[in-house]
Amino acid sequence: MAATSFGREREATAERLLTSSLRTSYDPTVEIDWTAPHVPGAYWLPPKRSSLYGTPLWAGLSEEQRVELTRHEVASAASAGVWFETILMQLLIRQYYDADPTSRHAQYALTEVADECRHSIMFGRLIEALGCPVYRAGRVDHALGRFLKSTARGPQMYAAILIAEEILDTFQREIMADESLQPLIRMVSRIHVVEEARHVRFAREELPRQVAAAGPVAIAYARLLIGRAAYSIASRLVHPDAYAAVGIRPAVGRAAARANPHWRATLRWSASRAYENLADLGLVAGPGRALWARAGLI
Ligand SMILES: [Fe+2]
Ligand SMILES: [Fe+2]
Repeated sequence: MAATSFGREREATAERLLTSSLRTSYDPTVEIDWTAPHVPGAYWLPPKRSSLYGTPLWAGLSEEQRVELTRHEVASAASAGVWFETILMQLLIRQYYDADPTSRHAQYALTEVADECRHSIMFGRLIEALGCPVYRAGRVDHALGRFLKSTARGPQMYAAILIAEEILDTFQREIMADESLQPLIRMVSRIHVVEEARHVRFAREELPRQVAAAGPVAIAYARLLIGRAAYSIASRLVHPDAYAAVGIRPAVGRAAARANPHWRATLRWSASRAYENLADLGLVAGPGRALWARAGLI
């Protein structure tokens, strides 16, 4: 009985999301003028969202260097975006392998993969247009990502998806509304926000069903994995090498960001929606919770 009503809810959600996908989907290779010149002097992030904002290092930068730092911070976040999306696509495809291809739920999962294919191309184009390097995950995080994408299922799969999507989404909603910022990053953010709203809905509605279906051992394991995923995502948002672009040694910049109360407040702000939702479901607890705290997310 419960399984049947779960199945009906799941199909109804997927049907709505498929209809919305038909109405508003974007091809960034067509919609965005990648060769448009950048606006001189405009920031790529609201300055208060820079990881060094308010620190003595920030005070020591010229206006031009501050803009330059936000450009590299955006390239770092876009690099992290591609990394998360590659993991996410594989998670969805792995689940699809066992799914009923006639179900709307499975068809929406494929639609989400199609969205993420376009997003990763968009982020790749963005990094290129920024003239920045691809800021790749470190060896440990890269290996953990490979483990996650090859093994995660059930609650930890949807929770990891939600954390990554909601953190980036919080930054992007602010960017798209801020007319002082570079038009290119506002446009990229707008496209991403519109399409990610469906992904967040999909994961948010599926997660409680997955929690209800999981046993206590699976939940304990999920809490730990979710905490580690949250930690990787938060620490990868700004790659330490981004600081070198404005003449700051990576280790020095990273230490300053970690100790920066403004940046810590920004991290908590970005994670608050995901955190509240996961905490309500009992997915932030035990050693996993300590990882959320160590990452500065709570
Ligand atoms: Fe995306
Ligand atoms: Fe997404």
